[in-house]
Amino acid sequence: MADKISVLFSEEEVNSRIREMGEQISRDYAGRSVHLVGILKGATFFACELAKRITVPVTLDFMSVSSYGNSTESSGVVKINKDLDEPLDGRDVLVVEDIVDTGNTLSYLLDNLQKRGSASVKLCTLLNKPDRRIKDVKVDYTGFIIPDEFVVGYGLDYAQKYRNLPYIGIVHLDK
Ligand code: IMP
Ligand code: MG
Repeated sequence: MADKISVLFSEEEVNSRIREMGEQISRDYAGRSVHLVGILKGATFFACELAKRITVPVTLDFMSVSSYGNSTESSGVVKINKDLDEPLDGRDVLVVEDIVDTGNTLSYLLDNLQKRGSASVKLCTLLNKPDRRIKDVKVDYTGFIIPDEFVVGYGLDYAQKYRNLPYIGIVHLDK
């Protein structure tokens, strides 16, 4: 049976929030460049839209990580599937993520990236689910704080589906 999806944030709401985040980041990084590190695959849609709204010079790189576990639960054990193409030496790095949930992925990743000689490492996430946090993670930019619901769209998937939805929706799983 098809999963039922209800809209949480419309395409207009998401895009307008990303525009605001881009403006904020442009102000905060004034006079500098920002190196966006997008986390595949979920953050790709957000990273592209955000990059277009930043007015200071932007460079982009991507990495892919997975945390062992099933499709809706994270295990805390993180594996790098594809590392960055370029070194981070001296760069102002802004990690771009789709969602911070338990914090397991980001706590590992920020720790890993901070050891690579960058000038700074900050974190920007489209969605933040603080109720589910297991590991403390400092989030510098948050698009939306959301309740403990499983969401899809705008890059986020359920079993690799629904990434292409232009809005963010809550998926009501068939149980
Ligand atoms: P963590 O639990 O903070 O480590 O999040 C790990 C990953 O789980 C995120 O980067 C997402 O890819 C995925 N994830 C967590 N919550 C959701 C959700 O509500 N929808 C889709 N993916 C999610
Ligand atoms: Mg992700």
